[in-house]
Amino acid sequence: MKAVIFDLDGVVVDTAKYHYLAWKKLAEELGFEFGTEHNEKLKGVSRMESLRIVLEVGGIEGLSEEEKVAMATRKNGYYLDMISNIDESEILPGIPEFLEKLKNNNYKIALGSASKSGKMILEKLHLAEKFDVIVDGNLVERAKPDPQVFTTGADLLGIPCENCIVVEDAAAGIEAAIAGGMKCIGVGSKEILGRANAVVTSTKELPEVDLETL
Ligand code: G6P
Ligand code: MG
Repeated sequence: MKAVIFDLDGVVVDTAKYHYLAWKKLAEELGFEFGTEHNEKLKGVSRMESLRIVLEVGGIEGLSEEEKVAMATRKNGYYLDMISNIDESEILPGIPEFLEKLKNNNYKIALGSASKSGKMILEKLHLAEKFDVIVDGNLVERAKPDPQVFTTGADLLGIPCENCIVVEDAAAGIEAAIAGGMKCIGVGSKEILGRANAVVTSTKELPEVDLETL
């Protein structure tokens, strides 16, 4: 048996832009600009690690744990507002065709996302039933680049890690796949995702990737 484990934000759906916009809004309220040049660092990392990166950019130090949790919760509120009306139109191109192809070729399909909203988003997109296993931020403790989110998916599917292929848009996710002993396909630029077994510039190209020769 073989499996493909999908990251969510930036791979299945275009939510990465909303994560960014929500952090940017928080940064503006704190009195600094959070430009797109910092966005790459937020991809794939947990909510609290993202906050740490945002505060570092703003040069804000010395906050208590309670204050940090309150800020991360505030950002999550903005994010949830932004995605409240998300629908199938935000599924990234090629993903429905790729899921169909995997199913026809007897691949198991899992989600491996750090986001605590992962399952809810798949449900809103009417994609949840296409996934054999859904692992999101509610099921795991350790964030990417730790492989826990992917190895948990492989365990729940009952498929050895070396038979799993991860699809990821974040450098932290590629590192997590490698650490878990899995193959991986990067979606984005070769400069950032060069350690993946294959890199495509857009999800549109995923159905054409030869999974057998990765
Ligand atoms: C994904 C995204 C990150 C996000 C993380 C946690 O990995 O790529 O940008 O910070 O999930 O998401 P959450 O919805 O739980 O704040
Ligand atoms: Mg991602």
